[in-house]
Amino acid sequence: MADVHAAKQSAANRVTELFNLDSRVAVVTGGAGLLGYYHGAILAAAGANVVLLDLTVANPAKRADQLNLEFGGHSIGLACDITSEVSLEAVRDQILQQFGRIDILINNAANNPKVEDGNTSWSRLENIPLEMWEADIRVGLTGAFLCSRVFGSEMARRRSGVIVNVASDLALIGPDQRLYRVDGLPDDQQPVKPVTYSVVKSALIGLTRYLATYWSSANVRVNAISPGGVFNNQPQAFLSKLHQLIPMGRMANRDEYQGAILFLCSDASSYMTGTNLVIDGGRTCL
Ligand SMILES: NC(=O)c1ccc[n+]([C@@H]2O[C@H](COP(=O)([O-])OP(=O)(O)OC[C@H]3O[C@@H](n4cnc5c(N)ncnc54)[C@H](O)[C@@H]3O)[C@@H](O)[C@H]2O)c1
Repeated sequence: MADVHAAKQSAANRVTELFNLDSRVAVVTGGAGLLGYYHGAILAAAGANVVLLDLTVANPAKRADQLNLEFGGHSIGLACDITSEVSLEAVRDQILQQFGRIDILINNAANNPKVEDGNTSWSRLENIPLEMWEADIRVGLTGAFLCSRVFGSEMARRRSGVIVNVASDLALIGPDQRLYRVDGLPDDQQPVKPVTYSVVKSALIGLTRYLATYWSSANVRVNAISPGGVFNNQPQAFLSKLHQLIPMGRMANRDEYQGAILFLCSDASSYMTGTNLVIDGGRTCL
């Protein structure tokens, strides 16, 4: 009986040890947005000090206050445009001054132009403004590259760290443009998922593999997640069509990526690098 108790205790200790993030420092870009906050919340719940990076307008400091209220700890929110390397370097220095280390980076920020509401013919390949192409790539891809360079180099210097790039199921499959169709509009005015989304998300998988081999000997692990769409009060017509494409028959809830984030950021995934964890209700297995 004593042996059984000891074995259970040892297994429980192992579970805690695998997922515990006590004293680690995690940077989440786009941390004040819909999913960024949930990524930060699970890391804070596991003991990390979380730094939510976001644009001033998104008020990351207020979101960090919420995190501290919910989980205790010393999370902070910093205003930063991730497309500016100079701003990122200033933020890195501020984090190092306050916490002394950076262990985790989640490249989560992106421009997510909404087209589910219809009447957005600007989104079509022929119409999308070049400025929008450049802006989407600057935030989603160049921003992830710059954050990886600034924060990842610091991890490599300390020979320890984890980067998670947030891609999408649309890194693996083409968008099904029938989802976005609006009855009654001519074909050349139908909204579509913008080309930039697929391009940015696919490129993040390439960035993941590149960084994983680049920093493998520096003990910096780099992985991606490919989440499916999250329910956020999309129009019913859109939902009905999308549910038919997902074997689980629904979109994700906003907290359903937390398990994957915690797994990839913790020692539970200590032998995993350069890969892409797909969490999509089965959509891409069809
Ligand atoms: N929500 C979904 O259904 C879904 C599905 C798959 C993948 N994703 C991906 O997950 C990530 C988060 O999505 P979300 O739904 O939370 O999006 P969101 O739009 O709510 O959050 C994105 C955040 O990024 C911030 N941001 C934009 N430009 C920035 C910049 N230059 N510097 C710093 N921050 C900047 C925004 O202010 C915003 O808070 C994105 O990469 C998105 O593409 C989302």
